[in-house]
Amino acid sequence: MNAQEIRQAYLDFFEQRQHAVIPRALLVPYNESTVLFTGSGMQPLIPYLLGEPHPKGTRLVDSQTCLRAQDIEEVGDNRHTTFFEMLGNWSLGDYFKEEQLPWFFEFLVDVVGLDPSKLYVTAFSGDQDFDLPKDEVSAQLWQKMFADKGIDAEIAEIGSEEAGYERGMKDGERIFYYDASKNWWAPEGKPSEMSVGQPGGPDSEVFYLFDDVEHDTSWGEHCHPNCDCGRFMEIGNSVFMEYIRTESGFDKLPKQNVDFGGGLERIAAAKIDSPDVFKISILWPIIEKLQELSGKKYDEHTESMRVIADHLRGAMFLAVDGVKPSNKQQGYVMRRLMRRAILKAFDLGIEQNFVQEIAPVIAELYRNDFPELLENEQEVIDILVKEEKAFKQTLRKGLKEFERNVSVSFGEAQAGEAQLGGPTRKNVEELTGDIIFRLYDTFGFPVELTYEEAVKRKIPIAGSAQKKFERLMQEQRERSQTAAKGTFKGGLAGQDLIHKKYHTATHLMYQALRDVLGDHVIQHGSNITEERLRFDFSHPDKMTPEQIKQVEDIVNEQIDKDLQVSYAEYPTEEATGPLGALGQFGDRYGDVVKVYSMKDPNEPEDKRPFSFEICGGPHVDHTGQLAEDGKRFKITKEQSSSAGIRRIKAVLA
Ligand code: ALA
Repeated sequence: MNAQEIRQAYLDFFEQRQHAVIPRALLVPYNESTVLFTGSGMQPLIPYLLGEPHPKGTRLVDSQTCLRAQDIEEVGDNRHTTFFEMLGNWSLGDYFKEEQLPWFFEFLVDVVGLDPSKLYVTAFSGDQDFDLPKDEVSAQLWQKMFADKGIDAEIAEIGSEEAGYERGMKDGERIFYYDASKNWWAPEGKPSEMSVGQPGGPDSEVFYLFDDVEHDTSWGEHCHPNCDCGRFMEIGNSVFMEYIRTESGFDKLPKQNVDFGGGLERIAAAKIDSPDVFKISILWPIIEKLQELSGKKYDEHTESMRVIADHLRGAMFLAVDGVKPSNKQQGYVMRRLMRRAILKAFDLGIEQNFVQEIAPVIAELYRNDFPELLENEQEVIDILVKEEKAFKQTLRKGLKEFERNVSVSFGEAQAGEAQLGGPTRKNVEELTGDIIFRLYDTFGFPVELTYEEAVKRKIPIAGSAQKKFERLMQEQRERSQTAAKGTFKGGLAGQDLIHKKYHTATHLMYQALRDVLGDHVIQHGSNITEERLRFDFSHPDKMTPEQIKQVEDIVNEQIDKDLQVSYAEYPTEEATGPLGALGQFGDRYGDVVKVYSMKDPNEPEDKRPFSFEICGGPHVDHTGQLAEDGKRFKITKEQSSSAGIRRIKAVLA
């Protein structure tokens, strides 16, 4: 079974167990205020895990494309990728541990054909601070499943990751209890890090053992399943999402959910018993193409080829999902992926037509499963090639900057030395870590090239340069991680009242825009923060002040009428066809959609609601809530966003 076949087998396996197959969500979350990327399969499903009914029922399965930009620096080892697919199945208050764990085990062993003696599992040891119990049910289920395969699996108490390095594992041990730092899953992390209202729960992971890989003691004295040396690889995680964070601790959610996520790439690597995920069927052909283009071997240029394969694949999916390289947010990450890939291609000596050659190989790999890559191939290539050209321009500028920063200060120092009466080592200006960092951080000038230039120009390199540069990079990473964390929290907090209000206001405004400007107005994007809403829509001209005023008046009128907000599910064709529900340009829907109505309760039943729009929610219950504290709806900005697309910012103030 190759990766493509494993993906299909997984979807089939769960479909046979009454799961509805749902399409992947885009890499850029829809209507989500601040989360940059879809980073796990559960992220688009949070409202349903919190209790909203899902239109497709209580059992769902998919393969979700994910991007984890925080892993960008780790790409190059044998198992980290920024882009990956997460196989996911969910129980929304339906089945629980007794079904989930045996199903996943059956899938791995009987369907994919993994050797059960290579599988090692974990369970949650409990948490006294939060009064969360030990997950004995999972441990015992595992013990029985292994026994059924003739494997005597002993249970071990580990605790923290550090404890694991000290203790190691004993013969026969196969089921390991770890604490909340390892066996608790919530989008925001550990129980103590979660904000109020967020769901989470204990989890049980499955690891695959590569017994040919030697333990690397630089991680810790002994190896154990959660050791990062690469001997064990996590291939699946069943989260038993049954808690919600409260002010004082945790409550049980109204229903027990299962949130399972398993890396397709990693399961495929386990299948071929290769600790190197780049050997699998959806990555290796890219490497082969790189070998062909460069005339160089993977074994000798492993890191460069891995980075290119991962980053270009990610950049292509980003382009298909509507991202363009830029200096902000998603566009910035895409730009970094492209630039890192291009530089690595330089290392391999590939300087021409690089993107045009590789992109078709990638599109072909996803021909059946994500045909949108092939369908948009030329458009995607155009976007990537444009960025490639822009980057080459940056490199030229960077060289100039290098000359200003390094050669000039070097030149001055030499002049100084002359005055002091002859060169001494002490007086020679050097290439320092600060300069390298500044060139890299401010001008995007690659570190390797800075060194090369220094050598070419015979400028001495300070002994501490690399160390200092790394320290500055680390500080910057910490800054951006802190920012990313804040971002993620903000996104989830998007479920709170002010976000709901802006979300409801967005629906009212969308309909008001169509009433005032005409039915050619189609939503092209939406973004909500605590301060404002932003909305992009198709319309050829600048809006006049009168039109803006009219839209504001209509929205405020609907707020004053205190429309009732409710939703219902419809077959997609019915919703978008005869019922005429509004949607977003380019959005992909499953067979059934949720449609939100905002309707004046004083009007007759059969009168069309003011707003009728496909949407996952959440919203306020009635529009009068938008006027709390005497607030009014006001458009603060109307401008062009791109050709034929206008952008509005509006507030409730
Ligand atoms: N949501 C869980 C994870 O990402 C399955 O590991």
